[in-house]
Amino acid sequence: MSRLDDLTAKIEARTARIGVVGLGYVGLPLALEFAKVGFRVTGFDLDAEKVRILNEGRSYVEDVASEDLAAMREAGRLEATTDFGTLSATDVINVCVPTPLTKTKDPDVSHMVRAVEDIRRRLRSGHLVILGSTTYPGTTHDLFVPLLQEAGLECGVDFAVAFAPERIDPANKKWKVREVPKVVGGETPLCTRLGVKVFEAIFDHVVPVSSTQSAEMVKLLENTFRAINIGLVNEVALMCNRLGLDVWEVIDAAATKPYGFMKFQPGPGLGGHCIPVDPTYLAWKMRSLNFSARFIETATEINGHMPEYVATTVGDLLNEDRIAVNGARVLILGVAYKPDVSDVRESPALDIIQLLEAKGAEIHYHDPHVPELRIDPRTLKSEELSDECLAQADVVVIVTDHPGVDYARVVAGANRVYDTRNATRHVTDGREKIRKL
Ligand SMILES: NC(=O)c1ccc[n+]([C@@H]2O[C@H](COP(=O)([O-])OP(=O)(O)OC[C@H]3O[C@@H](n4cnc5c(N)ncnc54)[C@H](O)[C@@H]3O)[C@@H](O)[C@H]2O)c1
Repeated sequence: MSRLDDLTAKIEARTARIGVVGLGYVGLPLALEFAKVGFRVTGFDLDAEKVRILNEGRSYVEDVASEDLAAMREAGRLEATTDFGTLSATDVINVCVPTPLTKTKDPDVSHMVRAVEDIRRRLRSGHLVILGSTTYPGTTHDLFVPLLQEAGLECGVDFAVAFAPERIDPANKKWKVREVPKVVGGETPLCTRLGVKVFEAIFDHVVPVSSTQSAEMVKLLENTFRAINIGLVNEVALMCNRLGLDVWEVIDAAATKPYGFMKFQPGPGLGGHCIPVDPTYLAWKMRSLNFSARFIETATEINGHMPEYVATTVGDLLNEDRIAVNGARVLILGVAYKPDVSDVRESPALDIIQLLEAKGAEIHYHDPHVPELRIDPRTLKSEELSDECLAQADVVVIVTDHPGVDYARVVAGANRVYDTRNATRHVTDGREKIRKL
């Protein structure tokens, strides 16, 4: 009898030990959820600083409260380590490491490969390995299962493998982690059953699919759907600009239709770890099968062009005021990739800043969540949103619509405002200064 047969009972009794490899925006909340329902959880990360902070019961992820972490630490249910040797003591291992793009925009699965190699060295009979990092269909089956089997054990017999995509949405206060259904697909029916079993402990609803490839594709469909629809509304924004129409008014009115329309917002470009990256994983995989993912390519082109459109429009606004971009003082309001987060990965603000600086603009920024912004070779510092700061700027560009900012005050104090997010929709005074995307 395989030790996999014991795993169901161990999960039910909460005696199964849970490992989470990669303690970032995805891994840390997951680790906490498992600890909260009574499992003993060990988090693994290469970053010794994160491990140290966690073991002090402090959080570095906005959506995870330090009090919750501290309580689980005190209860002895949550610990973090850089020592991957402890993986052998776990029963279920969740992998939540980054899956970025390389400089040439190809999938970079090197973090996953490293994590899986670390697991292989400690793999034993009875282990359930669940991959959660977003990746192209076939990664689990074609790359990771063979790698794990090099340990001399058979997948589906000695150990189990499943893929379960992450749906976490940082700063989303409406949906708690456990309320968002969890999709899971195993390498074999037994692997799926075990994956379902473990996630039933922390999610209200678990959705099994027939394979790891299918589960990988679910995530890519979800995010490709978003990227393409954002590409569509961004193109509609460009159309409305040519037509002299207010795209926000058009979208809001269209969204009153109770069926057949879903509201997406235009903006200065895509940001974050998922939406700009995931469709590229799918398009890359399809190219290897001689299939061109045309919707993805079109949306990527439109969305990728938005920062340039914003920078050009800033130049046009300054021109209207008889100011050259070269030497103009530009205040960027918000540099995080979305409201209420500190994450600047792939943020369109980075491109906009670089494009304007290349034309000689003097850039300043304010972001309540991002005190410092690294733009090689230097680091910018967030400035206080004082009356002087607003008045000194030739133009204020709203790139991220953080809710804590007083936009009426921004408009009152600024000479010009370029609002790429419709953050000033409720501002009544000084509207003549505002240009919207
Ligand atoms: N952030 C999101 O909103 C989100 C949502 C859904 C899915 N995802 C996907 O989840 C995965 C993780 O994303 P994230 O945002 O949590 O990333 P992150 O960068 O916040 O965290 C990843 C963590 O993994 C650690 N790490 C890297 N390589 C490691 C290794 N070999 N062993 C152990 N630790 C390692 C890093 O130090 C870091 O702490 C990615 O595939 C991402 O696309 C992210």
